Amino acid sequence: MISSPVLVTGGAGFIGSHLVEALLARGATVRVLDSLEPQVHGAGATRARHLPDGVELVRASVCDAAAVDRALAGVGSVVHLAAQVGVGQSMYAIVPYVDENVRGTAVLLDRLVNGGHHVRRLVVASSMSIYGEGRYRCPSCGPVAPTPRPLAQLQARDWELRCPTCRVVTTPAPCDEDKPIAPTSVYAVTKRDQEELCLCVGRAYGIGTVALRLFNVYGPRQALSNPYTGVGAIFSSRLLNGQRPPVFEDGRQSRDFIHVSDIVEAFCLALEREDVADVALNVGTGHSTSVAALAEAIARSMGVALAPEIVGRFREGDIRHCVADVSRIGRVLGFSARVALAKGVEDLVAWARLQRPDDRVGQARDELERKGLIR
Ligand code: UD1
Repeated sequence: MISSPVLVTGGAGFIGSHLVEALLARGATVRVLDSLEPQVHGAGATRARHLPDGVELVRASVCDAAAVDRALAGVGSVVHLAAQVGVGQSMYAIVPYVDENVRGTAVLLDRLVNGGHHVRRLVVASSMSIYGEGRYRCPSCGPVAPTPRPLAQLQARDWELRCPTCRVVTTPAPCDEDKPIAPTSVYAVTKRDQEELCLCVGRAYGIGTVALRLFNVYGPRQALSNPYTGVGAIFSSRLLNGQRPPVFEDGRQSRDFIHVSDIVEAFCLALEREDVADVALNVGTGHSTSVAALAEAIARSMGVALAPEIVGRFREGDIRHCVADVSRIGRVLGFSARVALAKGVEDLVAWARLQRPDDRVGQARDELERKGLIR
């Protein structure tokens, strides 16, 4: 049973708007706190395009304590999604990322515990990026935890992680929640802080708190014109504009791509299961896909013959491989992802075709290059 009303911070965004619909369908009352960030919603947006009619919107940043108090009035549960999300962009927009993600979470928690509110449940969107590199296996030494690839290795275009002992190339292994966390980007540092702040304050004040470590989410409504968004949206926008999708490194780096509807299901379960608290859970599919294979799948689904452009360069802050070990979330919440990648990509493409995205990927790449963040 979901403790309603539910406040969804970032509820006008990609994941948030799908979650709001699902919560309404389950009979919850929903309020949204969202700043309608121009990079996501377009410059001068006054309306939340994907928010169902009748949902109350408090249009403000999560850093605005008075607005947070208004948004929390009478609320039973909170889902905290509001955040800046670009790994590449976070490496130069350091103050905005730390402000919005860390200070914003601090303000939310401060008002939760000092504002006279009665919230019983808090679910925070954490991220797989906090792991840094995932787990690996060396053919001769067994399980290993290599540190990030040194600059000299990346400059030599030697992409795979090597065993710290014998230097042999390793293979990726599923990453469980007990893997020590080691963020490699400003974004990831802020996500770690969000997770730890929520779990720490939730525990201290008896607010049942769950951190969901989201793997790479894709699907309809991902901001196609935001060049710092996830790779699925970037590739779709490129292909719709008749351009080849730019793929960093050699394209064989891999991620666990999960459809937004599966993510929404995990959030609903985390809200419902009041017996589950004080825990961080991976939300992935358990399957890994290379970035080049994702680009090919999107092009195939669009019916366009544009092969990925393997740029052979690297983006500062990127990891090589990370795929979820999904046993804990299966055990604790009974969750398993349902949407296979081929079906999910069809869904993304069907939606993307109806959009008119501006292709700003080239400009964003120039910006990162000027700052020495793509080499
Ligand atoms: C993404 C999300 C992050 C989320 C995390 C886990 C974004 C911007 N980032 O980070 O919010 O917490 O997943 O869910 O949504 N790549 C290219 N070409 C491009 C862009 C990216 O080859 O034009 C490559 C990157 O180098 C990387 C991979 O694609 O190897 C994934 O990049 P990205 O989609 O930015 O995801 P993450 O960094 O994993």
